[in-house]
Amino acid sequence: MHDSKKIIVALDYDNLDSAIDFVDSIDSELCRIKIGKELFTKYGPSIVNNIHEKGFEIFLDLKFHDIPTTVYKACISAFSLNIWMLNIHLSGGYDMAISAMKAKKDCQSASKLIGVTALTSLSDHDCTKIYGCKRTDQLKRLRDIGLEADIDGFVCSPYDINTLAAEDKIFVTPGIRTNNNTHDHHKVITPVNALQLGSTYLVIGRSITESSDPTKVLKEIYQSL
Ligand code: C5P
Repeated sequence: MHDSKKIIVALDYDNLDSAIDFVDSIDSELCRIKIGKELFTKYGPSIVNNIHEKGFEIFLDLKFHDIPTTVYKACISAFSLNIWMLNIHLSGGYDMAISAMKAKKDCQSASKLIGVTALTSLSDHDCTKIYGCKRTDQLKRLRDIGLEADIDGFVCSPYDINTLAAEDKIFVTPGIRTNNNTHDHHKVITPVNALQLGSTYLVIGRSITESSDPTKVLKEIYQSL
C-alpha cells in the first residue's frame, strides 16, 4: 500500500495551547497527527475536531482493551469522530478484536484499525512473568489474533516486523530517532532504517516536537528516505 505521507507526529503535550501552537507551525501535507491518552483524556473529542479543522488526519492512539461489548461501543464512539486510524490491544483477545472490526463495519468507517502486539517496553523477563512465554512468542500469538480478526495492521517496533511476518498489513512503528537521544526507548532506529525493515508509517514525537524548527526536521526526514 503506497502512501508517501509516512510520518505521524505524536502530539504529546499536556496542554491545549502548546499542542495547537505546534500544529499551527506545521503543514498537513507533511504528516498526520497522533493524539494519545494524555491529550484526549484532558480535552476529549474537541481536540480531535480542532485538529481536523486544521486539515490534519488523526491517529487516535487510545489502545482500547476491555470486554468485547465495551470495546465495540468505544470504537463506535471513536469512528464517529472521522479519525484516520484507531488502535486496540490484541491481548484483549479474538472476540474483542472482532468486535472492534464489527464497529468499523457498522460505522462504514474508512479508518484503519490496528493492533498493539507486545508493548515495546516489555522485555523477555516481563513477558515470561505476564504471559508465561518469551516476547517473540507473545508477538506471534497476538499477530495470529490480529490476522484472524483481519485487522488492518500492527503497532510495533521496526525490529519486530520480521518476527510478525504479516503480509499486506500496515506496520506503524514508534521508537524513531533522527539523532542519538533514545529518551525512554530501549532501542531506537533512524527513519530510513525503519522503512528498510518494513515500516509503513513512522510515529515520531520528540525528535520533531522538541525541535526549534519542526518543518525543517520533517523535510530533512523525507529527504533522507
Ligand atoms: O518519538 P517519541 O519517542 O517521542 O514518540 C513517543 C510516542 O510513541 C508516544 O506517543 C508513545 O505513546 C508512542 N509509542 C507507541 N507505542 C510504543 C511506544 C511508543 O505508540 N510501543
